[in-house]
Amino acid sequence: MLSKEDNDLLCRVGPGTPMGKLMREYWIPCLPSSEFSEPDGPVKRMRLLGENFVMWRGTDGQVGAMSEACPHRGASMYFARNEECGLRCVYHGWKFDVHGNCIDMPSEPSDSTFKDKIKARAYPCRDINHMIWIYMGPRDTPPPLPTFEVLTCPPERVTEANIMMEEANWLQNMEGDMDTVHLDWVHGKLSKDAPYAGVGISGFWNEDAEPPRLDVQAAPYGAYYTAKRTINDGADEWHRINQFLFPFHTMISSGHHAVLRSFIPVDDEHAMLMSQSAAPGDGPMPASIADRMDASDPYKDWGGYAERTNDPRSYFYTKANRHNDYMMDPEIAEKSLNIGIPFIANLQDRAMTELMCGPDGEPLYDRTQEHLGTSDAMIIMMRSQLLQAVKHMEKTGEAPPNVDDVSLDRVRCATVVLPAGSDWVKDSEMARNADSGDGISFDHHLVPEID
Ligand code: FES
Ligand SMILES: [Fe+2]
Repeated sequence: MLSKEDNDLLCRVGPGTPMGKLMREYWIPCLPSSEFSEPDGPVKRMRLLGENFVMWRGTDGQVGAMSEACPHRGASMYFARNEECGLRCVYHGWKFDVHGNCIDMPSEPSDSTFKDKIKARAYPCRDINHMIWIYMGPRDTPPPLPTFEVLTCPPERVTEANIMMEEANWLQNMEGDMDTVHLDWVHGKLSKDAPYAGVGISGFWNEDAEPPRLDVQAAPYGAYYTAKRTINDGADEWHRINQFLFPFHTMISSGHHAVLRSFIPVDDEHAMLMSQSAAPGDGPMPASIADRMDASDPYKDWGGYAERTNDPRSYFYTKANRHNDYMMDPEIAEKSLNIGIPFIANLQDRAMTELMCGPDGEPLYDRTQEHLGTSDAMIIMMRSQLLQAVKHMEKTGEAPPNVDDVSLDRVRCATVVLPAGSDWVKDSEMARNADSGDGISFDHHLVPEID
């Protein structure tokens, strides 16, 4: 349970809000590179942290982002011409480069220097491993780029992002990732031998009579935890170890790839879940990962993506959504799974987190009314780490250490099986370290296909 003040502090991310300021310290994954497939192509609208802007790929291949409103008289730069390394507003012809400099002002006399005084709000962008990252913060020189494995592995060993738009506040989506116990339920099968639902991946079945036991650890970059299950008649323990990294990233274990999942706030009431995977090593991407992370439309077997408008809130929005009960099929709930929605990416999760709401039905969950149990230990830790970080930054101006110390990004989620009673923190040290040289191991019969 949280006070209303703390709930607002955590959830609200618009310009000037404490959490919005904290998030703006970081590079943010914004849109896949494929959205801007060629130089001088169409301009796109985008919205992050409650700010509207436009994005484009210029003649030289660089991606730019600037406020949607033209600094002259506010016409939408969505209609601008993308030409010769800049965006030219079609209302009166003012032209801007990727740094926001006004580089041409044909509506003023040719000897005027007025253009030198005009600067658009521009955001630095970097196009790395199929993803465009953006910096929306106050620094003239942005912080170093993160060093997550999806950014440091060769591009051919990194998947394109799998993305889903959710009509809910970013935090309720992310909390779902730190809640292992829901595997047994919303992703669960009706019985061990329940038939495959025919769509998505098969459901989960817990062999252990007890629910998983959580143990959480604070870290300078956020926190991590294990969800421990007893297996092999009590001889061993299976640890599913997941990471939370400031401000909105998780790494959740499905065993065979280095994953980064980011819960990117579009505004207070919309968020994108972006998930990219890397396969550390050389050579082409292993087929098992490439197939599983096919990003062209991960939801194609259940309606696929809905048609887009020019509103960024319609990007990556699925046809199965809250307005049609996610296309629930009663037969699936009768024969196969606990819910009549197939286990495709985060669709089942979304049905759980998207409808959490505030006192007046608004899509911002009211945490003053909840009752947290032992299974929520990591959610409690994550909220407390975020609240501490945001309050510390309000007081001192200091952002969390992983803004500048990007070596803190070199962690992994892990799946390990240890003899009962082992010290899981110590014994999983190598598996949690992206630079340990330890390969990612995967024991198929113990680790269900989960995401
Ligand atoms: S409003 Fe853009 S040039 Fe006038
Ligand atoms: Fe889930």
